[in-house]
Amino acid sequence: MASMKVLLTGGAGYIGSHILVELFGAGHSPVVVDNLSNSSKESIKRVAEIAGKTAKFYLADVRDTKKLEQIFKTEKPEAVIHLAGLKSVGESVTNPIEYYDNNINSTLILLKAMQKFGVTKLIFSSSATVYGDPSELPLTEESDVGLGIPNPYGWSKYMQEQVLRDVSTANPEMEITLLRYFNPIGAHESGLIGEDPNGIPNNLLPYVSQVAVGKLKRLSVFGDDYDTPDGTGVRDYLHVVDLAKGHVAALNCMKAGVDTYNLGTGVGVSVKDVIKAYSRVTGKNIPHKIVPRRVGDVASCYASAKKAKKLLKWEAKRGLVEACVDSYYWQSKNPNGYKK
Ligand code: NAD
Ligand code: UFG
Repeated sequence: MASMKVLLTGGAGYIGSHILVELFGAGHSPVVVDNLSNSSKESIKRVAEIAGKTAKFYLADVRDTKKLEQIFKTEKPEAVIHLAGLKSVGESVTNPIEYYDNNINSTLILLKAMQKFGVTKLIFSSSATVYGDPSELPLTEESDVGLGIPNPYGWSKYMQEQVLRDVSTANPEMEITLLRYFNPIGAHESGLIGEDPNGIPNNLLPYVSQVAVGKLKRLSVFGDDYDTPDGTGVRDYLHVVDLAKGHVAALNCMKAGVDTYNLGTGVGVSVKDVIKAYSRVTGKNIPHKIVPRRVGDVASCYASAKKAKKLLKWEAKRGLVEACVDSYYWQSKNPNGYKK
């Protein structure tokens, strides 16, 4: 497909930096806008080392209408991938106003700028969290959404999806793709870019990797009394490079209206499976103890990945073992993430 100028909001972050690599690889020209509230410009430099090309970077908040419009005017993007947003489930519970402000308003202001400058193609980072407590498994794109969403972060994704559907109804020429990510893990195989959480990680894989390198002592397993094969929570972990490639595939298939895709592997994996795989791959013991369930967690959540395979011609190629290898390589090479 023809090369496109693509604006990436939140492009300095974990997923955005991996998408940058894949966009360059596919011959596109990405431009990043990020306020660096949860990332570092170092990731952009590292992407340049991998891709041999440097993405143009704008330090700006997507909610800053004036700056955003200036970027649209200068760059004339043909498509937008909108990743910018706050994503910590726990923080969203304690600070819902900040979460709704950031996540909803960034989308509204972005949409206004797209409208003003006649940009119609938008890929949005949604989440499996919109399915709430799954009504069926595996989750298909037609499964119920909005039932039992346990936190403001999840609601903000649900609301943003609704905003985008309403905007599409009003502006049928818009080409919108909602990508519902399951659980992205791992890192680029170079070990140059990866997940760099602030403080103690909330998510399983970054926690496990910090235990593996000795930064953290012991993993707490949140419950082993779920209705799952081994009692621990089951999720659909997909390699972040596969996830990034899913965006390039989606970009190739944009059309008028709203298309929704799950990006997952279709395979459910338990917390105990992850610990075992990580230990096996790294040769490191992962000390852990069972603690009570975490509020808001569901027992199982995994995708049907059929729609993306059929229509986007995309499927996850990398397995849990590769993700553990790459996660450990990144963590060992960068024990403090991007911080010197
Ligand atoms: P991340 O925090 O690493 O990346 C988000 C980026 O957006 C950061 O670089 C941050 O500085 C930037 N940002 C935040 N608010 C901004 C604003 N108002 N203006 C400009 N930049 C802003 O997170 P990630 O894991 O790369 O997630 C990217 C997207 O994918 C998010 O929308 C997230 O909700 C979604 N998502 C992530 C996961 C996951 O498990 N990582 C799962 C489902 C969906
Ligand atoms: N877990 C532990 N110990 C930990 C961290 C997690 O046992 O220290 C368990 C959880 O209970 C769960 C599994 O590991 O069973 C995965 O937990 P994560 O926090 O890594 O991921 P979640 O599925 O809870 O949430 C993630 C993202 C959300 C997103 C959701 C669905 O963090 O933003 O996937 O896409 F909404």
